[in-house]
Parts: sequence; C-alpha cells; structure tokens
Amino acid sequence: MSKIVKSILLCILLLTFLSSTSLASPTDEVILRYLGHSAFLISHGDKSLLIDPYVNPATANTLKPQYILVTHNHHDHIGETNMIAKNSGAIVLAPAGTTGKQQSIINIGEKKEYDFGWVLATPAKHPEASGTPVGYIINYYGVIIYHAGDTHWLSEIKTIAQENQVEVALLPIGGKYTTNIDEAVKMVALISPKIVIPMHYDTFPDIQASPDKFKKEVERTSGTETKILYSGQKLVLRKTQE
Ligand code: NI
Ligand code: MN
Repeated sequence: MSKIVKSILLCILLLTFLSSTSLASPTDEVILRYLGHSAFLISHGDKSLLIDPYVNPATANTLKPQYILVTHNHHDHIGETNMIAKNSGAIVLAPAGTTGKQQSIINIGEKKEYDFGWVLATPAKHPEASGTPVGYIINYYGVIIYHAGDTHWLSEIKTIAQENQVEVALLPIGGKYTTNIDEAVKMVALISPKIVIPMHYDTFPDIQASPDKFKKEVERTSGTETKILYSGQKLVLRKTQE
C-alpha cells in the first residue's frame, strides 16, 4: 500500500472513532450532593454548580464547579468561596454587600441566563445579615431547585415558587436565624415541591433540630417527599432517560 493510501485509511479510522465518541449518548443525569449545613453541589456530567460552600478546606480542594452561588454575607454561607473560585475559575454569583472576589452581583427578582439554564434571586428574611440576603431558584439543565438561603417565614415565596415550577426545595429547619421545623413545614405547603431536603440544622448548638420530626410533619401535612441527606450523600434528581 502506498503511503498516501495508508494515511487516508488512518484518517478515516480516526474520524470514525471521533464521531462515535461524540455521538455517544450524553448523560442526562442531574445529581445533588449535600456538603453539610447549607452547602450543595448540583452536577450534570462533568459540570457543576456549588451553593453556600461552608465546607472544610480538604473538601474545598476537590471541588471544581463552573459556578458558585452565595446567599448572603455570613461566614457559614461564604465558606470557602474565594479559595474554590481561585482553584476552579468559577463565576461567583452573590447579592450586593457580600464580600469576595470575582463576583457577579444579582438583585432580588433578577433572572440571569447561563449555559445550564438560569438563576433567579428570591427574597429572604434574614435581618441578622448585612447587605441583601437572597435565596435562589435555579434551573439546572431543566431541573428546578429552590435554595432558600437563611430565611424566616416568607409568605411571598408561594407565588414565586409556583410561577417557576419548583420541583426540589432546600429549606432551613434549625430555627433562631431561620425558619424552625413548624415554619419550614408551612413553607413546604406554600411551595408544594416534589421533594424537600432539610438544611441549616445541627451545625451549631443553637440550631439543633430533628430532621426526622420535620419529615414526619411534612408527610402528614403535604404530598411532598422528604429526603434527609447526610453530609457527602448524593441524590439523583433526574435519571438518564434512555
Ligand atoms: Ni446567615
Ligand atoms: Mn446561616
């Protein structure tokens, strides 16, 4: 065989291989991982978005998100944002008054579009924080997730959650700085998501709460399923549909 025929054959072989890998069915899976307190990582394939990364530095070093969302200017929410952003080059989204670098400011009611979908900043009643505390509704590759941030009872979430068809709600239950179990149960009734996950409890002595009690109350008063996640545990929000 001549050299030219050989290289043409090699090229065809290579192109066949490349097109078969690129045509390989992409995963549609969306996975949520709880990182303790109010920290969550949402991922789709090798892409991920991190919220309120109050995690230890060892965990922080393993995280390479494209986006980090911070709800307000408290250390238990900013966490390792600056270090992770520096490592990963992630875009940091936070409300005005939140300290940090590399930030894109988002205002309450504002919806920002990204490659994965969009982020809407929602109100949060948390006068303990300086600046403007927020929550977020996130459309992450088609799964709609509400992270309440730190908030006390918030009746106005009803309309916002329904308009945006929230499927998964992440709600604080620890009380003191946020809704307690009873208030969070009522928030579930307002939002009526498919799944609720309790957060912001037991990290400190003044925010102790029983997630099992919360689960029982939610299931007694609503059709919402409660998933209690332990730190590091994953939940598949959407399976690959193939
Ligand atoms: Ni706070
Ligand atoms: Mn907090």
